[in-house]
Amino acid sequence: MPLFNVYPLYNVTPVSAKGVYVYDENNTEYLDLYGGHGVVSIGHTHPKYTEALTNQVSKLGFYSNAIQNPLQVELAEKLEVISGCKDYELFLCNSGAEANENALKLASFKTNKSRVIAFKNGFHGRTSAAVAATDNKKIIAPINAQQKVTILDLNDLESVKTELKKGDVCAVIVEFIQGVGGLDQASKDFFEQVDALCKENNTLFIADEVQSGYGRSGKFFAFQHYNVTPDIISIAKGMGNGFPIGGILIHPNIEAKFGMLGTTFGGNHLACAAGLAVLNVIEEQNLIANTNEMSEYFIKIAKTIPQIKKIKGRGLMLGVEFDFEVGNLRKKLIYDYHIFTGGAMNKNLLRILPPLTVRKGHIDQFFEALIDALNA
Ligand SMILES: Cc1ncc(COP(=O)(O)O)c(C=O)c1O
Repeated sequence: MPLFNVYPLYNVTPVSAKGVYVYDENNTEYLDLYGGHGVVSIGHTHPKYTEALTNQVSKLGFYSNAIQNPLQVELAEKLEVISGCKDYELFLCNSGAEANENALKLASFKTNKSRVIAFKNGFHGRTSAAVAATDNKKIIAPINAQQKVTILDLNDLESVKTELKKGDVCAVIVEFIQGVGGLDQASKDFFEQVDALCKENNTLFIADEVQSGYGRSGKFFAFQHYNVTPDIISIAKGMGNGFPIGGILIHPNIEAKFGMLGTTFGGNHLACAAGLAVLNVIEEQNLIANTNEMSEYFIKIAKTIPQIKKIKGRGLMLGVEFDFEVGNLRKKLIYDYHIFTGGAMNKNLLRILPPLTVRKGHIDQFFEALIDALNA
């Protein structure tokens, strides 16, 4: 049976990995500055992570959400401490889209309203409401287009005000640093005013931290760079270092009811073991401090390269913009220099999302290759 052909593929076949490196079937080493779409947070095959998963799967890999699972409680407690999101409650699921789908659903339950405000160039996933809130017509099927979503420009506070006053908006969903769209960030004033407007209008404020969360922005969550209190925070990618796990942090002003949300696989024992190992490593290795240090180092060097027109993003969620499309440059970096980087909807932007364990030597290796490729 052939695979349903939806992914344009690079001709590279990784078979093993360690830290910031990935190896193909010929043992060729690739520097991974993309982490498989920003997923690999604590480095590939981290020994504490593989040990935790191996131990857990040999004891109990899965049971459903009909029994007591102390690992979920442990994960929630650890996440509360490390994230600083005190008193929020945790619901676990399996992916970023599912996290946002549950966030939007919960907002609709809570407010008894159904329209969503989302933003230009935003990306929230590919399921029903999440994809409808995503600003990309090509991936919205007619069945998704039934959702009531209004897409506004980032920083257009007047339009947010006008739309919220209409009284039918259940949620405003935003990425504090846009990922797929190309690393744009609204102003501090915009984020803080939208937060306040949501509270005035019985609308929930959802922070989509699927990509920017788990330390990647230089704080545990990107919204923590601002003075805002989201009602729901969605998480996934870096949370499991590759094991599929997602979730939403829910403000105590939203009351749980039996059956309101649910999932078969979400929060299973193996997923929790992965999630706990990630949080333990982030804490023990001080990875958020490393993120800030490496970010500064990267930006300092990027500023010295004349072909780079703009440096975007924050922490280790970075982009460098050129005055040409970067498709060929990315290919060159992979095939000639053995370095993985990312693209964005903004075709001139090269995205850098390395594991948070990246060191100066890796960044030097990237810039040497980049300068060589640009001047070839
Ligand atoms: C900000 C954001 N939200 C949601 C998603 C969807 O996550 P997933 O692919 O795990 O469904 C993504 C994926 O790229 C994302 O970047």
